[in-house]
This record gives sequence, C-alpha cells and structure tokens, in this order.
Amino acid sequence: MKKALMMKHVEDEIAALTGSPLYEYRIENNYMPVIGEGSLDANIFFVGEAPGKKEGETGKPFCGRSGKFLDEMLASIGLDRNATYITSVVKDRPQDNRDPTPQEIALYGPYLDRQFEIIQPKVIVLLGRISMKYVFEKAGIKEKLDTIGVMHGKVYEGTLPYGKVILLPLYHPAAALYNPKNKAVLLEDFKVVKKYL
Ligand code: URA
Repeated sequence: MKKALMMKHVEDEIAALTGSPLYEYRIENNYMPVIGEGSLDANIFFVGEAPGKKEGETGKPFCGRSGKFLDEMLASIGLDRNATYITSVVKDRPQDNRDPTPQEIALYGPYLDRQFEIIQPKVIVLLGRISMKYVFEKAGIKEKLDTIGVMHGKVYEGTLPYGKVILLPLYHPAAALYNPKNKAVLLEDFKVVKKYL
C-alpha cells in the first residue's frame, strides 16, 4: 500500500475516535484532530506532546507560539520544515493544555507507532519528556530514561520494528517561551541535528 494511503487510514481512524476522552472536547470546541504534517519520506521526524489551542483550531502541528520557536530552531540549521515530519503523541487537544493522561497516551500512541512505520525516519527528535518517555519505551531503551534535564541534547540509539533509529531528546519548545536560558539550550542542542542532514 502507498504511504499516503496508509497515512490516510491513520487520519480517518483518529477522526473517528469517538471513544477518546478528548473527543467531546474536540466537538464542543470545533477543534480538529492534529494528525501531523510534512514529508512521508522524511529522515527527521519530530514528536511533541499534544496539540495546543491554535493547533486544535487549525489541525496543524506546532503552528502556535511553540511552533514559531520550532521554526526558528529549524532555520538555525537550515532545515526546511517541509522536508521533515512533525506530529505529537496525542492527536487531540487536552483541556486547558494539561498534560495528557497515561490513558490518553496509551490510546493515541499506536497511531504514532504506525506513523513511524510508514515514514521510517532515521532520526526522531523528541520534544519534551512525554514523547521522550513514550518513544524510549517503544524503542526498547527505557532503562536509559532519566529526567529531561539530564537527557536533553544527547544522542541515543534505539530499535523500532523497521530498524535502528537515532533518538534525540530536547526540551519542549514551549520551555523557551518562558525562559530565555532554555531557548539558548534548545538552540545549542539542536545543532546535533545538523550531523544527520
Ligand atoms: N505542543 C505540542 O506538543 N504539539 C503541538 O502540536 C503544539 C504544541
């Protein structure tokens, strides 16, 4: 099956997730699920936590304030956003930007797994501790997990069903919005990605 068709199936199934604890909130607020965006041939795949307000309103990942900073990070190493794939673990907006619950992560995680399998990226950049934890467990290296404060900017190697993958945990771009120190750390850590372009 073609990649685009496989991704369309993922999209349709998420759209029809009426059993999700976030479904009612989606409908009441006219939010859209945020499936992900970018190249289905991307070598570099970004995973955030869950859509924010702007993302829910538009259906596009990282299009609000965090997304602006992510764009700045991409520009800092000359990486074209369209050459990457960007999504989050949870595809519907949690109420008031709260952290997604373990149940929500367990419900939406398998869609992310399918997206990895469709795109088969070489490098997965984990934006924040929620995606870091989820993907490290999937990649069989949960024993390496520590706090994001310890792990950010370091390169790890894991294995997904399709093969070996480089994992790079970073602070979530939202961390840069309230602390300029985090912004400098994120930009510095991000230079590692350049090695894989
Ligand atoms: N934060 C995320 O983790 N994902 C988005 O898509 C937007 C903000």
